[in-house]
Amino acid sequence: LSKKLVIAIDGPAGAGKSTVSKLLAQRLGLSYLDTGAMYRALAYKAQQAGIDSGDGEEIAKLMESTEIAFGTGEPQPVFLDGKDVTSSIRTMQMSELASAISAHGAVRRALVLRQQELVNQGGVILEGRDATTVIAPNADLKVYMTASLEERARRRHLEYQEHGHDGSFEKVRSQIELRDHRDITRDDSPLTVAPDAQIVETAGLSPAEVAEAIARLIP
Ligand code: DC
Repeated sequence: LSKKLVIAIDGPAGAGKSTVSKLLAQRLGLSYLDTGAMYRALAYKAQQAGIDSGDGEEIAKLMESTEIAFGTGEPQPVFLDGKDVTSSIRTMQMSELASAISAHGAVRRALVLRQQELVNQGGVILEGRDATTVIAPNADLKVYMTASLEERARRRHLEYQEHGHDGSFEKVRSQIELRDHRDITRDDSPLTVAPDAQIVETAGLSPAEVAEAIARLIP
């Protein structure tokens, strides 16, 4: 197994991408890149700075003076300009804001550059909405993970609860539905299945079983 292996995973919110990616990273000795956390962290900073989520240019500019770093642990610590924002970026509000700012081409270009710097070092598993199509189209393995809206809402609801955040199941489900729609229909690098991606349906499977299925796909 090459140490420079790159695995890219895309899929809608709540498909289980992060849980499975972490398992695989551990098992294969790869580093894990949570690209959604970068959108969340930038969205959080923009909100704190009072920048409107519709102002893509201003938010992209903000990224020039922004440092986003990851630690190790579960949940994986996320540092925004040195400050631990791990829990603050997992709220329903930040899910919404991250999705909103991610529709701006300028914001995407700024984040994709940072993400590619990390991926180019190799030995990484990355996940998001454009990992297989834009960030790492030459990855050794490209996977599209998915599950029904109902199942994904259940998982995300649980995740919010684990982070101590509120939100009824119905609210989480309708937010995911809305976010799916926005992520899939945006003009700039929408969530889509790459032509050579392997589709992995995760309904009824445990994270370990999904990780196992993906590991078997490694060329
Ligand atoms: O994976 P997540 O729920 O943490 O992502 C939050 C939002 O960020 C998601 O709704 C869309 C955006 N995103 C993106 O546009 N591209 C990525 N590679 C990752 C996330």
